[in-house]
Amino acid sequence: MISCPTVEKKVIRYHYNLTTFFYWLLWGKHIHHGLWEGNESCAAAQLNLTETLASLAQVTPDCRLLDVGCGMGGSSIHLARKFKADVTGVTISPVQRRWAATSAMMAGVGGRTQFICQDAEQVEFEPDSFDRIWSIECTEHLFDKPAFFKKAVSWLKPGGRVSICAWLAGDHVESAEDIQQVYDVCEGFFCPSLGSSADYVEWLTDAGLEMEHELDWTERVDRTWEICKSRMQKTGMPWLARMIDQDTVMFLDRFETILKAYRTGAMKYGCFVAHKPE
Ligand SMILES: C[S@@+](CC[C@H](N)C(=O)[O-])C[C@H]1O[C@@H](n2cnc3c(N)ncnc32)[C@H](O)[C@@H]1O
Repeated sequence: MISCPTVEKKVIRYHYNLTTFFYWLLWGKHIHHGLWEGNESCAAAQLNLTETLASLAQVTPDCRLLDVGCGMGGSSIHLARKFKADVTGVTISPVQRRWAATSAMMAGVGGRTQFICQDAEQVEFEPDSFDRIWSIECTEHLFDKPAFFKKAVSWLKPGGRVSICAWLAGDHVESAEDIQQVYDVCEGFFCPSLGSSADYVEWLTDAGLEMEHELDWTERVDRTWEICKSRMQKTGMPWLARMIDQDTVMFLDRFETILKAYRTGAMKYGCFVAHKPE
């Protein structure tokens, strides 16, 4: 695991409050990578990532699902609509909570979804509350990932599944250059640490889960950053960022770093599905 001790929780919250509208402009309703099969659009690739994870997690009709780090509610709304899942979304950002709740109402799934603004590391649920725990690109922002997984498993019913997509430190990050690349991504994208694939497997199994899938999707997702870089330049975002603050300038600057980190192997993109034994 590579850590960046300067990241603060209040800065993560501030970042998502401030930039959710810009994420929407840049990426649409899902704040996550696309998963490409061929030459489909970015939006189609993002939906493909959501649908592929839903299929691996075996999301079933009417299941109770917790979406940790729900963003604008992209996954929550899709799963409530497609599977009639009963979804609870948690986000650290009050702006995102309101955005997700309004979008769910407009999509006709207001009754099947609820969104709460809380820190996923502090929130409490009754034991055995959920059939699925779902998290796309949020665990990177958590400070004590092993403790989070232990708590999350207690919220899961026996037989339930945890499904995670996450930015990862590469498997062999040893050179000073690779370590610096991962550190720069952590700093620029407000991640207190990035675990490796082996770290995630250890945290999930130590929490009492049995692994079903451990997948490396790096080569199928890295195109996301080419597209983001080009859209960012076209929309004049670097200019706007300079009017906002230094953190936002750094965030945009690091788009190039993450792309490089994927291509050198300093970073990977992973998908993990594990179940709680009956
Ligand atoms: C990269 S976005 C992903 C959003 C969403 N999962 C998606 O795929 O569209 C990261 C999300 O994690 C949330 N987040 C970060 N730290 C959090 C925390 N400690 N508790 C709850 N949510 C958190 C952010 O507010 C944001 O919604």
